[in-house]
Amino acid sequence: MWITKIRKPIIALAPMADMTDSPFCRVCREVEKSRKYKVKSKKFVVFREMVSSEAVVRGNEKTLKMCEFEEVERPIVLQLFGADAKVMRKATEIIVERFKPDGIDINMGCPVPKIAKKNQAGAALMKDHDRACEIVRELKKAKLGVPISVKTRLGWASDEEILEFAPKLEQAGADLISIHGRTKKQGYAGKANWERIGEVKKLLSIPVLANGDIKSREDIDKCLEVTGADGVMIGRAVLGNPWLLAKSEIINHKSKIGISGIVEVVLRHAELHEEHYRSLVSFRKHLVYYFKGVPGVKQWRQELVKVNNLEDLKNILQKITT
Ligand SMILES: Cc1cc2nc3c(=O)[nH]c(=O)nc-3n(C[C@H](O)[C@H](O)[C@H](O)COP(=O)(O)O)c2cc1C
Repeated sequence: MWITKIRKPIIALAPMADMTDSPFCRVCREVEKSRKYKVKSKKFVVFREMVSSEAVVRGNEKTLKMCEFEEVERPIVLQLFGADAKVMRKATEIIVERFKPDGIDINMGCPVPKIAKKNQAGAALMKDHDRACEIVRELKKAKLGVPISVKTRLGWASDEEILEFAPKLEQAGADLISIHGRTKKQGYAGKANWERIGEVKKLLSIPVLANGDIKSREDIDKCLEVTGADGVMIGRAVLGNPWLLAKSEIINHKSKIGISGIVEVVLRHAELHEEHYRSLVSFRKHLVYYFKGVPGVKQWRQELVKVNNLEDLKNILQKITT
């Protein structure tokens, strides 16, 4: 049961499609474990990018590969999206039996039309409480021995909807809820409403993770104070900045580590990425994040976003560091 075993307050890596894959999660763990950063074993939990329950049940190879992970990535929660309770249950059974993750998370917040409109999944479940609760109940009925959590937003249109929705999810059996402090309508606009998450927390007895706009160690403390939540879930701020999750006493942001430290981690991440995907083309987006705001790197950006392999990357990094 990762929820009871993990250090409190909980620090979680947010699920991010195309980003929080196995190579990225392994790099985050390696940074956490590096003795250089003197991390005091503050283990965080990983929520992996969402996968389609329908695709899992169909046995889609690419989807199943997305669920693979290395032991070092634990504690790890795999996230599923879908709107059909029976399919969600079947997919959960397959995933738990085959990959043995520490938990399963249900996506009830994704605003992307392909998920929320076409499939009536993700954020659309905030408009259909009965269906959302049926999915939670069905997954709990399967008695798979792993916590079933839900990740959602404040609501579809109004940020007050969560005050009614979250207690229903708890009643249905959810073991933990992560709340992104925005509505579906807001998308990513405006500021995450931590105060509202605090109101929800008071209504629940299960743990709550607060999510949205946490960018620094100071933000983690502030968000915990405002929300009274059991932990925080951090997304975009960790991209290109795995040091933030490590909660290191000396290094907690790439600005403190210097260019050579960044380059070391970039190379390690690239190595893992190439091994996993047999290409570095999909690594370009990570490079942009790693070097965002790093002084003296702007002039190399055009070259960085064209890398095809490790050799290319090493050549550019050499130019950047000399
Ligand atoms: C590129 C990207 C992909 C995302 N993919 C997912 C996903 O697969 N599942 C999910 O529940 N949320 C997903 N999210 C939402 C994040 O988990 C998180 O809720 C959101 O980014 C707000 O947190 P932040 O301000 O810390 O980034 C994604 C966000 C981004 C930016």
